[in-house]
Amino acid sequence: MHAATKIDEVRNDVIEMAQTSATAQDLMQKMVKLLHERILKYNWVGFYMLEPGAKPPMLVLGAFEGATTPHVRIPLNQGICGAAAASGQTVIVDDVSKDPRYLACSLETKSEIVVPVFAHDRVVGELDIDSHFPAAFTPEHQALVQYCAMLVGKKLEASGQ
Ligand code: SME
Repeated sequence: MHAATKIDEVRNDVIEMAQTSATAQDLMQKMVKLLHERILKYNWVGFYMLEPGAKPPMLVLGAFEGATTPHVRIPLNQGICGAAAASGQTVIVDDVSKDPRYLACSLETKSEIVVPVFAHDRVVGELDIDSHFPAAFTPEHQALVQYCAMLVGKKLEASGQ
């Protein structure tokens, strides 16, 4: 199947998932499973959420699919995860071995994308995807992952969080 078609198909499935999920937590759990299963180069897919009230701010691992990671809690001044949450910007790293910020999760990881999740205009967490393939996150993939993060932010807002 052509890559664009696959991405469109997955986007349609996450839209439906957002409509049918009972809670944001339910949506995040189903979403990581779907993305991990359906897109072969998404080898680790997970959410980190900002711990409410933590000072200094702390990202805490939430729903994920893939290998167990040692990075369960990440402060905002560490890792690619910290950089994305601190800046509120998507961070894409095509070759993690060349980025000094990178916190290793798996030796097989070659590239990574981290997209902030916003609720009520504030960063509340992020969607992190690692790939065993270098430069996996093309603009089409970036758009899909950003769309997924946006759906979770909207679900959090709808549930009053
Ligand atoms: N690589 C991330 C840490 C999380 S693991 O990829 C699951 C980072 O550099 O922040």
